[in-house]
Amino acid sequence: SRRTLVQALLAVTALGASVAQAQAPIVIKFSHVVAADTPKGKASEFFAKRAAELTKGKVKVEVYANSALYKDKEELEALQIGAVQMLAPSLAKFGPLGVKEFEAFDFPFIFDDTADLHKITQGAVGAGLMAKLEPRGIHGLAFWDNGFKSFSANTPIKTPADFKGKKFRIQSSKVLEEEIRSVGGIPQVMAFSEVYQALQTGVVDGTENPISNFYTQKMHEVQKHLSITNHGYLGYAVIANKKFWDGLPADVRGQLEQAMKESTAYANKIAQEENDAALEGVKKSGKTTVYVLTKDERLALKKAMAPVHLKMADRVGKETLQTIYKETG
Ligand code: LMR
Repeated sequence: SRRTLVQALLAVTALGASVAQAQAPIVIKFSHVVAADTPKGKASEFFAKRAAELTKGKVKVEVYANSALYKDKEELEALQIGAVQMLAPSLAKFGPLGVKEFEAFDFPFIFDDTADLHKITQGAVGAGLMAKLEPRGIHGLAFWDNGFKSFSANTPIKTPADFKGKKFRIQSSKVLEEEIRSVGGIPQVMAFSEVYQALQTGVVDGTENPISNFYTQKMHEVQKHLSITNHGYLGYAVIANKKFWDGLPADVRGQLEQAMKESTAYANKIAQEENDAALEGVKKSGKTTVYVLTKDERLALKKAMAPVHLKMADRVGKETLQTIYKETG
């Protein structure tokens, strides 16, 4: 009869809808500002791959590199309103969000090496910092390494005097502002996506970044000198929109946590290699003169920047700073 036909059709449609619903993947938009060919770029792609595998296609992570979706400041706003679900901003970019404690990582010469750093990111301080994001609607997932920063400019940078009166692009961190001021330079906060052009047109004279960022943004084309200073650390907090993350089915969330664990190991394994390869690339290009600071020159820079610690201790909390000093010896 007509009635049974209609009922049968309705049943088929309902079945179709529920099958479609079961198959439509959960989409995670993961936005970042660096090139795909960097520690962060590669680790986010690795996460996308493992997320698909471990969830058996239930989750699809779409990675958007090179500020294709959002620039520095916008991406954090986009995460909070849920326009994207995941990011991995540098630890120097959380100040504008009101979580100034992350700027502890920006103190010049605070970590001797990544082993020192991991004591902090993988310990109580790291967990405490991530917890501070929760009331902002953000869930912290992991810390990913990039590496130690070096200075570049169109004039050689060897001594503190070489910074005097020059403009340096920095990330949005008050500690970094003081770092540049401590040596007589003029700090200028600017989105990462705008640095190449600012260097090219002379809006700023120089900048600081790990070599992987320097090279993949082609900054070596517009900077005559690169000084290997390793004066400060640049790494990432991988974060998710809290409401989105908490709303995931528990099994899926567990699989994503596993994918993240593997991606973190991968990121931290390749970071140094990527930076080493980038330095080779810069040298091969012949466009930038690479200078490695002598032990004494590096010590002189460390001394000149030392007052930043005292001056900015209150901003990140004296206790946090003391704990870092203690745990890194
Ligand atoms: C920068 O703005 O220099 C870096 O934070 C970019 C990045 O994400 O590594």
